[in-house]
Amino acid sequence: MPRSAKMAFRPGRAGRNADRKTALHPVGYWSDPLSPYGNGSQTMASVPSLASSLQQQLADALTAALPDAGAADPLLRRSDRADFQANGILALAKKLKGNPRELASQVTAALPAGELIKDIEVSGPGFLNITLSDKAIVETLAARAADTEGRLGVPVDADAGTTVIDYAQPNVAKEMHVGHLRSAVIGDAMVKILEFTGENVVRRHHIGDWGTQFGMLIQYLIEHPGALKHDGAADGASDGEAAMSTLNRVYKESRALFDSDEEFKARSRDRVVALQAGDPETLELWQGFVDESKIYFHSVFDKLDMEVRDPDIVGESGYNDMLEETCRILEETGVAVRSEGALCVFFDDVKGPDGNKVPLIVKKTNGGYGYAATDLSAIRDRVQDLKADTLLYVVDARQSLHFKMVFETARRAGWLNEDVKAVQLAFGTVLGKDGKPFKTREGETVRLQDLLDEAVERATAVVREKAGKVGLSEDEIVENGRYVGIGAVKYADLSTSAVRDYKFDLDQMVALNGDTSVYLQYAYARIRSILRRAGDAVPAAHPELELVPAERALGLHLDQFGEVLAEVAAGYEPHKLAAYLYQLASHLTTFYDQCQVLSPDNAPEVVENRLFLVELTARTLHRGMALLGIRTPEKL
Ligand code: ARG
Repeated sequence: MPRSAKMAFRPGRAGRNADRKTALHPVGYWSDPLSPYGNGSQTMASVPSLASSLQQQLADALTAALPDAGAADPLLRRSDRADFQANGILALAKKLKGNPRELASQVTAALPAGELIKDIEVSGPGFLNITLSDKAIVETLAARAADTEGRLGVPVDADAGTTVIDYAQPNVAKEMHVGHLRSAVIGDAMVKILEFTGENVVRRHHIGDWGTQFGMLIQYLIEHPGALKHDGAADGASDGEAAMSTLNRVYKESRALFDSDEEFKARSRDRVVALQAGDPETLELWQGFVDESKIYFHSVFDKLDMEVRDPDIVGESGYNDMLEETCRILEETGVAVRSEGALCVFFDDVKGPDGNKVPLIVKKTNGGYGYAATDLSAIRDRVQDLKADTLLYVVDARQSLHFKMVFETARRAGWLNEDVKAVQLAFGTVLGKDGKPFKTREGETVRLQDLLDEAVERATAVVREKAGKVGLSEDEIVENGRYVGIGAVKYADLSTSAVRDYKFDLDQMVALNGDTSVYLQYAYARIRSILRRAGDAVPAAHPELELVPAERALGLHLDQFGEVLAEVAAGYEPHKLAAYLYQLASHLTTFYDQCQVLSPDNAPEVVENRLFLVELTARTLHRGMALLGIRTPEKL
């Protein structure tokens, strides 16, 4: 290999000088696990991964070997035989009618001398097998560990934009169900992940707070003043639960009246008209329902350990002033047409079973506006006022046709154009153990609160079993029980691809082994316990040491964190982050099997280097879990 001054791999500060002082982390980076992350700072060190350094060197070598071939991708992949395999040369040689093995040798010869690559060999018809040096691995990880911003060297996306994310959108005066759980959990993770990559994120909770049912509810309240007065929280019930049970009662009673009493029905219809006309008394009563519901929503979100901010709750009613204009523009531009008295948008490929086109109805025959008019107005608001370049909707896959039609309509109207992307992050149905949509034995939808309470209860039992050994106080048991229980529910939701249905199985969710959050939380706590027991030994990188296979495997996996995050953010695929973290914990398990950390038989620098590896693993687990909205208790 010819010597070259140009090297893509430049270890950071700590990499070059891995003494104790620089390898240590400032006290305090550890505290406040779920605080808003410090992104946006331009001064932090972003550390190129080993893979990207290698990719760069190979691409340069390809260009050097074939100056006329233009930019070529070496197609670098992780490999079992070596650390990496480059598969791109084969196709390139074929294209240029050259000999692949010869080209592979030329590329190898054109690689710069340096410390990144330990071993490179041409294999098979023209692949390159590449093994990295232990030194490069440890130095790169040390540079990541030295990032004091808590970003672990992950760069902030230079061309980040503004994403408006529509998630956690329950309905006023109605019980939340597991579908609302999914939207909240997936949406919250995406908010955190996108913000971490540097994206400007605007949250929107598009709650169902408008529509004809409010005529019925308000009219009932007028005729039964005081119906919304609390029944008084039953023993142990929270304010949120009391609010919901009151709302439930009012809903049931007014529904019964609505279905049995034609005159009440007529008065309810008039009440909708009054509501839409902005009659002050009617609006005030409506607000009462919204406020009561918000108490309930917040109690569920608190239970979920999730921040939902009031100003971000902009429900259907928030677009009321725009509806008329939205419809007028659609009609004037010919995007929507009158059909049987309704204002409709038609699509060539949306047809009913009878072969007739099924329209998107933006204004009903009776003059009322529905779900489509609100969503179209929301798009105008989000693009024109909030300046979004991406609209992300975390909504049940069963609403996909609605969004397809809404997006297409907005495109025809010019509200969406090539500068704005609209995406539905569609999620599947939550199934019971029997594989059918999740219901109670009585066939009712499962109350979200009961479900979360049960998860916490089971998790607390699991935590309690080991509590003696770890020395947990009763308070800690209770707190960890929440973190483990809620984490289990979130992780189960996040660890399969969103669009797939999944089975809600609490036994499996809180299992200590397997692909569960508890397994990851234990991995984390175990490291923290080792670090507490380390005495005078401190984590410090020692690039001069030779690594054993389990150390290398762990190190190479740690190195991929930033790239995985970029992929997760770009494709809206939190399950890939979950999978990465699970693999990380599995690498750690293998590492423990093969490597003692605090053994007196180890040389001091081996102890330090291993502490360094596990500590970086802990920080990566902690950061990754936090991005999924899951806590990592220090002791478990
Ligand atoms: N509230 C709706 C429901 O419970 C979900 C709203 C989704 N967001 C939207 N912009 N349509 O099904």
